[in-house]
Amino acid sequence: MKAIMIPEAYKIEVLDIPQPEIEQENEVLVKIKRVGICGSDMHIYHGTNPLATYPRIVGHEVAGEVIKIGSNVNKVAVGDHVVIEPISYCGECYACKSGRPNVCKEVSVFGVHEDGGMKEFAVLSERQVHKVDPEIDWDEAVMAEPYTIGAQATWRGNVKEGNTVFIQGAGPIGICVLKMAKIHGATVIISDITNERLEFAKENGADYTINPNEVDLESKIYEITNDEGANIVIDAVGTPQTFELSVNVASAAGNVVTLGFNAKPSSIAQLPVTKKELTITGSRLQTNQFGKVVQLLNEKKLTHNGLITHKFPLSEVKEAFEFVEKNPQLVRKAVIVFD
Ligand SMILES: NC(=O)c1ccc[n+]([C@@H]2O[C@H](COP(=O)([O-])OP(=O)(O)OC[C@H]3O[C@@H](n4cnc5c(N)ncnc54)[C@H](O)[C@@H]3O)[C@@H](O)[C@H]2O)c1
Ligand SMILES: [Zn+2]
Ligand SMILES: [Zn+2]
Repeated sequence: MKAIMIPEAYKIEVLDIPQPEIEQENEVLVKIKRVGICGSDMHIYHGTNPLATYPRIVGHEVAGEVIKIGSNVNKVAVGDHVVIEPISYCGECYACKSGRPNVCKEVSVFGVHEDGGMKEFAVLSERQVHKVDPEIDWDEAVMAEPYTIGAQATWRGNVKEGNTVFIQGAGPIGICVLKMAKIHGATVIISDITNERLEFAKENGADYTINPNEVDLESKIYEITNDEGANIVIDAVGTPQTFELSVNVASAAGNVVTLGFNAKPSSIAQLPVTKKELTITGSRLQTNQFGKVVQLLNEKKLTHNGLITHKFPLSEVKEAFEFVEKNPQLVRKAVIVFD
């Protein structure tokens, strides 16, 4: 079978490797249909993902069809359409025992720490596959994993109906957060330095859009919220400045959610945190969000609505990575089609 391998930074190869076989009774064999290219795949390609090791078969946004099951598999059957939950964990550490296996001390992400889904077939534990209605288009199903990132961020921020949520960044992750915040019934303000991305956010339900290069963001947030500030601020940009701004524009009793992996420190005083009694929380990958997201996909309440802008066949994967690299202004999400 064919597999897409990044042997070292800035190289990409399509390899012929043996098709994997089911070895455990709880495993399933999946024929891969679609794999999304994510910012973190691009970081692995550029050699800038500190967690990844090489050589690596990338891909963690994956949808496919079950073609064989182990003798003790009950959750799915042959022919089922599935999306893949890309994490495995130890089950023993404090985080795992606290119900937060996404931050397990040994968490292993499919396509980052271990080989992922950019290959024609994959063997996975049944725990890692979630069944999607067969009538849901593959191009919709493949978005499940990015939506779970949005679902996790809104869960960590405790977004509820009637809250005002301010999302910084209208990239693919900001848009996934936006979709989930709207499903929760929040009023959403979103910022981006690109007006085209703000326009797309509007088409996807944003109530207010702000370009911080054009208006004073802080005063605009206070103006929109009648001087209260945003109840939940979700940072889907991840710079020291956006973190500082999050704390400044959060309302009293508000929540700030970070999604970035930036190692540069921010300058944040204790005063606003204590005075407003803010809750500052990280959001990484997801815990228990696939069930919810798959249900929303099945109900057609989550649709990509133009978030996927480009599709490439497996034979053009090199061109796909190069295109995404050179045209960030044109690409929201690119997907590799395995047919
Ligand atoms: N925690 C997680 O589980 C997780 C998962 C995936 C991605 N991420 C992180 O989420 C962030 C967003 O990911 P993405 O794929 O959407 O990235 P992206 O680079 O495609 O999008 C970021 C957007 O932010 C905009 N932007 C830049 N500076 C800004 C500013 N000062 N104010 C407002 N907008 C600004 C850019 O124009 C762009 O549209 C990244 O930091 C990524 O590492 C986190
Ligand atoms: Zn991703
Ligand atoms: Zn663990």
